[in-house]
Amino acid sequence: MIIEPRMRGFICLTAHPKGCEQSVKNQIEYIKSKGPIDGAKRVLVIGASTGFGLASRIASAFGSDAATIGVFFEKPPTEGKTASPGWYNAAAFEKEAAKEGLYAKSINGDAFSNEIKQQTIDLIKADLGQVDLVIYSLASPVRLHPTTGVLHRSVLKPIGQTFTNNTVDFHSGKVSEITIEPCSGDDIENTVVVMGGEDWSMWIDALKQNNLLADGATTVAYSYIGSSLTEAVYRNGTIGRAKDHLEATAFSIKDSLKSINGNAFVSVNKALVTQASSAIPVIPLYISLLYKIMKAKGTHEGCIEQIQRLYQQRLFTGAAVPVDEKGRIRIDDWELDAEVQDEVSKLWAFATTENLPEIGDLEGYRKDFYNLFGFGFEGVDYSADANEMVNVDSIK
Ligand code: NAI
Repeated sequence: MIIEPRMRGFICLTAHPKGCEQSVKNQIEYIKSKGPIDGAKRVLVIGASTGFGLASRIASAFGSDAATIGVFFEKPPTEGKTASPGWYNAAAFEKEAAKEGLYAKSINGDAFSNEIKQQTIDLIKADLGQVDLVIYSLASPVRLHPTTGVLHRSVLKPIGQTFTNNTVDFHSGKVSEITIEPCSGDDIENTVVVMGGEDWSMWIDALKQNNLLADGATTVAYSYIGSSLTEAVYRNGTIGRAKDHLEATAFSIKDSLKSINGNAFVSVNKALVTQASSAIPVIPLYISLLYKIMKAKGTHEGCIEQIQRLYQQRLFTGAAVPVDEKGRIRIDDWELDAEVQDEVSKLWAFATTENLPEIGDLEGYRKDFYNLFGFGFEGVDYSADANEMVNVDSIK
């Protein structure tokens, strides 16, 4: 079928298999162009099909020749209906890994559940014995708690007071004011249950209890801080509380891994266009301005560049991992550069629908958004028939 983007609000209902394949190939090329990474050889990535998790899987496999197991929650295709993009990414990843003789298997299902944890445990036992690195890169709006059976929903709201600021509808380019009411009831607790560190901890406990973490194993989860412009809705908002919890969890996991000389880190990454971040009010305007400035300075990075730098210059240097005063790895250093933030703040003050195409990188935002779904890649013939029924080889 001919596959075109079909937008509904902030999501795209279709995904292009060839475009997703191209996206994976481009990321592999980038990793190879940067040379080998002296990293872990048996890697579990939880949230491995898009964004930072996919980039981590690619960096491990094609930078360090690692065997990878990827866990994700994606929608397979049905006749006439495309899969979610992460499905096509995983299919392309496995295909490219197989070409190079790299072990790669995937598990599709709810990573919060006991069942998917058990499947992963069984697969590691059967195929890899143990793992040396566990990347935790889930971004989800909901979590069905495996012990209580309660379905928790996360919210993206300020705490304590109403927040009013500008945002942009990146489809139309319209800049307008948005008001977000503060959270109420159990919003904070629910957001912490979904996006905090409890599930990360449960994964590591389960792996450790089954003796599946190798001596010296490391685990890394991803966090975000961002600018003062977005802090009311992000870092000081409900999601920020979840990130505080995630960051605190790194310390308790680190303690629990002492007996195997293991380590646990949170890496604070840069703001990027992903399915998760497009849904956060105010962030698209911030990212449009940020991209413009970082591109002009030559410091702009996407997920793959960020993870390449995380691996090559932070995690696997052979020396102690550099961390900030709160024990976090910082790979958001170029985003939070004082000069960059100063320029974003200045532009923010006078951004309008009329001048945003000029002062911001709305085009870059849109391109990245379309790319998430496999659209807009050079080298892909979008007018050609594409087969939507693509398999992920290891998933029966
Ligand atoms: P994403 O939406 O691109 O990827 C999320 C991944 O989680 C996908 O592989 C998806 O299949 C998987 N997933 C979601 N729910 C699942 C479930 N129930 N079971 C199994 N897999 C599930 O997200 P992104 O942006 O790469 O986020 C990953 C982490 O990075 C998050 O913790 C996020 O807060 C953090 N981060 C994101 C930034 C951004 O600007 N996008 C910046 C800094 C950190």
